[in-house]
Amino acid sequence: MSFPKDFLWGGALAANQVEGAYLEDGKLPSTADTLGAGFENRFKNTTFTINEGEYYPSHTASDFYHHYKEDVAYFAKMGFKCLRTSIAWSRIYPTGEEEKPNEAGLRFYDDLFDECLKYGIQPVITITHYEMPLHLAKKYGGWKNRSLLPFYENYCRTIFTRYKDKVKYWLNFNEINTLTLLPQFNGGFTINRDADDYGQTIYQAAHHMFVASARANQLCHEIIPDAKIGMMLAGMQSYAETCKPEDVYATLIKKRETFFFSDVMMRGTYPSYTASLFKKMNVKLKIQEGDLELMAKYPCDYLGFSYYMSNVTTTDKEKLGDLVGNMSWGIKNPFLKESEWGWQYDPIGFKNYMIELYDRYQKPLFCVENGLGAKDTLIDDHQGGYTVNDDYRIDYLREHIKCMEEAIEDGVDLMGYTVWGCLDLVSASGGEMSKRYGMIYVDDAGNGSFKRYIKKSFNWYKKVIETNGGDLK
Ligand code: BG6
Repeated sequence: MSFPKDFLWGGALAANQVEGAYLEDGKLPSTADTLGAGFENRFKNTTFTINEGEYYPSHTASDFYHHYKEDVAYFAKMGFKCLRTSIAWSRIYPTGEEEKPNEAGLRFYDDLFDECLKYGIQPVITITHYEMPLHLAKKYGGWKNRSLLPFYENYCRTIFTRYKDKVKYWLNFNEINTLTLLPQFNGGFTINRDADDYGQTIYQAAHHMFVASARANQLCHEIIPDAKIGMMLAGMQSYAETCKPEDVYATLIKKRETFFFSDVMMRGTYPSYTASLFKKMNVKLKIQEGDLELMAKYPCDYLGFSYYMSNVTTTDKEKLGDLVGNMSWGIKNPFLKESEWGWQYDPIGFKNYMIELYDRYQKPLFCVENGLGAKDTLIDDHQGGYTVNDDYRIDYLREHIKCMEEAIEDGVDLMGYTVWGCLDLVSASGGEMSKRYGMIYVDDAGNGSFKRYIKKSFNWYKKVIETNGGDLK
């Protein structure tokens, strides 16, 4: 058996997709609370407003805020070694600018982490997952503006100090590389891809986030010397459509758009191709004294990444332009099956991707998101409740776990694996609850009862963890 004995098996959530209670105990809205339901509303959000009478899924989500004890007990039953979730910045600093943190917000996460630790579940905490206090986006234009740095630093210092005895695994910005596609998710601003200043705006914001991450890494190590802090990359596996050298080169360049972020954050320096990239994108980066030294001194300890699917790159202009899922562009692969949302799953691509990442950085990896979004149907469990026969999800996870094992055998240092949305939650791209990833069914955001039901994959994953990946049947 290849999985190390301290392998961190678990599940992953994000505050805005699961907690609900968006105005409770002093919290104010975050940017995520302005995203409505449906692709159009989320992808084209340019105003960051909440219109009365409209439905916003994050406002209620899975009501984890009130159900976390019950949910953590379920996670413990499955044998989780860790739980990845995020802290909602706007629970701690409701506008982002307060001098003192909101005690009620801090207490919620204290209680959540205590509940996890009671069962031996290690919290793995994303500092921000696709949100920031709405006020910071409205007043400053999010990460476009360097003024966000002291607010972020203050927030990080507060949470590191408060949770130093409870949280030993941290992650910087969720899927930082998606900034180039959807800055409204993790950048707190919007910009048209065709705008003249697109490149300048995106990469300047990225620079601010790199400096912020380096500062967070420094603070984390000073305040919690035995903690590890990683980056979080949206894993984007891509293949050339043909072996035509032009297609192969286009694929290399496309993958580099993603690797640019991990190259900077894992190595602590801008890679040599930055000059040509910035020339092409018309970027003249404003760097302040000390920025580059800070980034070089405090790179990330490990690389956290999500992986759902792969795509295909082509230079054939007629075929270009399809969004093929998880914020990645390309065309379909005739050799792969796809989910109900058209995401093509590719476990071998997962193995290859991990090997590629490890070859590139030689630092520990942590797969902090993987899973299948599918429509589930509740059926009678003949014990007075309901369940879901989600064999399709079990198949997806089994294949990916097998390939993960092969990557470890190849020499990849993998810290753990957390199944995305282990508790059903609101989908990031569609704002819908019908796209479910979990082993625990939640009767819906909005008008639901929020009742939880165990799916077939619950007991399957329990057995996988119990046998440390030895029994995948
Ligand atoms: C990742 C995000 O992109 O993929 C999550 O980090 C997201 O927040 C997940 O939920 C799955 O995407 P979706 O659109 O199916 O929710």
